Amino acid sequence: MTTMPVLSLKDIQVRFPVNPDWRGRPRQHVHALNGISLEIAKGETLGIVGESGCGKSTMAQVLIGLLQPTQGEMTLSSGKSNGKGGMQIVFQDPQSSLNPRLPVWKIITEPVFAAANRKVDKAAMRELAQQLAAQVGIRPEYIDRFPHEFSGGQRQRIAIARALAAEPDIIVLDEPTSALDISVQAQILNLLAELQRSRQLTFILISHNVSVVRHMCNRVAVMYLGQIVEIGDAAQVLEHPAHPYTQLLLASVPTLESVQDESAVPENVELPSNRVLPTGCYFKDRCPSASSACLQPQVLKQISTQSQEHEARCHLAHPD
Ligand SMILES: Nc1ncnc2c1ncn2[C@@H]1O[C@H](COP(=O)(O)OP(=O)(O)OP(=O)(O)O)[C@@H](O)[C@H]1O
Ligand code: SF4
Ligand SMILES: [Mg+2]
Repeated sequence: MTTMPVLSLKDIQVRFPVNPDWRGRPRQHVHALNGISLEIAKGETLGIVGESGCGKSTMAQVLIGLLQPTQGEMTLSSGKSNGKGGMQIVFQDPQSSLNPRLPVWKIITEPVFAAANRKVDKAAMRELAQQLAAQVGIRPEYIDRFPHEFSGGQRQRIAIARALAAEPDIIVLDEPTSALDISVQAQILNLLAELQRSRQLTFILISHNVSVVRHMCNRVAVMYLGQIVEIGDAAQVLEHPAHPYTQLLLASVPTLESVQDESAVPENVELPSNRVLPTGCYFKDRCPSASSACLQPQVLKQISTQSQEHEARCHLAHPD
């Protein structure tokens, strides 16, 4: 990466204690993230793909400061702390992420209200809410309405306005369109792309939907069992996947015409348990190319012959 990163993660690990014994001590741990390291430059959109349970939402929670990693380091270059200005999130389902008892202007300005320790001027907050509403395509005169008075797409616009309110450097989008009607999805994606250009935002876009990632992202990271198995320029990774898992994931992607099917997930294959991590390559039990060499742990290795970054965690991966 040539420019200074706005965010860098170093060996982030998250383990959840589960299955407590009679003393309340955990008998097992879910290994949700197993050493995530990456850097993100200002203005980029990094896509994160991988099947259900691979750790995408856990990563989102770490990023916005809802979850303290068990191990590892996260640095925001702006010096702002995550969750308070530095980073905001838009969740999958605006139905459950917006407080039904609050009028829209309070929902939108809540991050500013929280950051200012509740010492804010009501008129100024209403004014800010009106401006942000207009920017996301909600009529400013609707700010006294409640979430149930809006459609799903409009509610997601309100969630986006709220994410913008604290003027974050980075917005994490966790499946931002997958709860919406197909017809509305493109509108929301276009709005996000437009806001990104006008505000120089950095996006981390989590999605099952590879066509959404292809449309929105300049870089993509593929996750498997809490690790990044492939990362690089989006066109490069999606057109010339180097890791056997990415190849499998892309082969099972529905065509653009049938994107209703959100699951880019190979069927009939069980994910290995994340309670007892496999030795060697985490993917070896499902990999069509597995051999005895795969019993060794695999590291991300640079495979691009060009200047763009492209790395894969497989000894077979070679320059394309
Ligand atoms: N609080 C928790 N306690 C125990 N296990 C958890 C907890 N939160 C998540 N997990 C487990 O951690 C793993 C990663 O979960 P996560 O929600 O990050 O996956 P995901 O990639 O977002 O999946 P999806 O695509 O279904 O949203 C899963 O095995 C999940 O069951
Ligand atoms: S290291 Fe081996 S098992 Fe793992 S992805 Fe590569 S070929 Fe498959
Ligand atoms: Mg999730």
